[in-house]
Amino acid sequence: MHPPLSTGRHFLQIPGPTNTPLPVLAAIAQPTIDHRGPQFKALAEGLLRDIRPVFGTREPVVIYPASGTGAWEAALVNTLSPGDRVLMAETGWFSNLWQKLAGRLGLETEVIPGDWRHGVDADSIAERLRADSQHAIKAVCVVHNETSTGVASDIPALRRAIDETGHPALLMVDTISSLASIDYRHDEWGIDVTVAGSQKGLMLPPGLSFNALSPKAREAARTARLPRAFWDWEDMLSANAQGVFPYTPATNMLQGLRVAIDLLNAEGLDNVFARHQRAAEATRRAVSHWGLETQCADPERHSASLTAVRLPEGHSADRLRATILDKANMSLGNGLGPLADRVFRIGHLGDFNDIAVLGTLAGVEMGLKICGVPHRPGGVEAASAWLAGNAGAGAE
Ligand SMILES: Cc1ncc(COP(=O)(O)O)c(C=O)c1O
Repeated sequence: MHPPLSTGRHFLQIPGPTNTPLPVLAAIAQPTIDHRGPQFKALAEGLLRDIRPVFGTREPVVIYPASGTGAWEAALVNTLSPGDRVLMAETGWFSNLWQKLAGRLGLETEVIPGDWRHGVDADSIAERLRADSQHAIKAVCVVHNETSTGVASDIPALRRAIDETGHPALLMVDTISSLASIDYRHDEWGIDVTVAGSQKGLMLPPGLSFNALSPKAREAARTARLPRAFWDWEDMLSANAQGVFPYTPATNMLQGLRVAIDLLNAEGLDNVFARHQRAAEATRRAVSHWGLETQCADPERHSASLTAVRLPEGHSADRLRATILDKANMSLGNGLGPLADRVFRIGHLGDFNDIAVLGTLAGVEMGLKICGVPHRPGGVEAASAWLAGNAGAGAE
């Protein structure tokens, strides 16, 4: 037994919640303000304006004091009616959870099965929509970046495929682990509802979640009959128009959001995306040098915000993670559902830089060695050499 690791800082390298930058923490620690006073009104008006470009939208964005699951529910209850059919693509744990939630709300869910190693298959979705001549399917719901597998789907390709069918279903996209990390354009890509959360690319603690809306989604909300109260968009939007919320907002989190948006804007969203690609590329170079396999089996669809790594048969990913936590004071993401103990996930999103990536990889390599997981040593050097040779660049 060694004394608790209390020196240095904990490396929180799970794929969200992510490390919160000090200026954001400092903003959250400011005194709580009157949520109906002039100071809050100015804060809210600025935020409700400035959050839109982060989603690539000019339309309103609804902000809830809730985790991402709440924003999933909000997307569905505002637009759909009991018994409506929704088409979902199985990409992994999170697409399945969204499907379960939809079922509990009384929606008919239909799933395009997936192997948890590839992105959304746009052709299968289009084929299903083409067969739906009665337009029974009211919405297509997909996860942009599947956090359980490290696979990012091609949303513009999906939009094109849906458009070619002429089917009027709404398109809803979960960007909980991609917003402000991977390029995303709500308006340009024709998304009806975008679902997001505070605790990943936005560099805030968990506690806020978001719906970005399209005019078509708001129109659907006028006739949708699933019961909704807390999640009602129009209650929210009419209060927001007055610089308030229909219930007590998470004022301190919103103070943090102000600073997080300012940090993203100071860096520039394109640079933020390039930084994530760069971290992902360096991570994959280490993984491939080690001779380990990524859970993502499609080289075109690797996630820029996390990498899920498979362990060779007979080796425990949970034991590896526990060892790394114990010896290196670093948290890595666990395998979810059928991937439990089979994969570990390296989060490289939010607030980090090259050194944080290399420190993370060094902790992983140390753990592989301690646990006797077969690997070729030198993965950290491979990543470092690539970063050094590509100073300031995104992925090749
Ligand atoms: C892609 C994705 N969707 C949904 C969720 C659920 O969000 P929450 O746990 O904030 O409710 C998560 C959480 O990690 C996620 O990664």
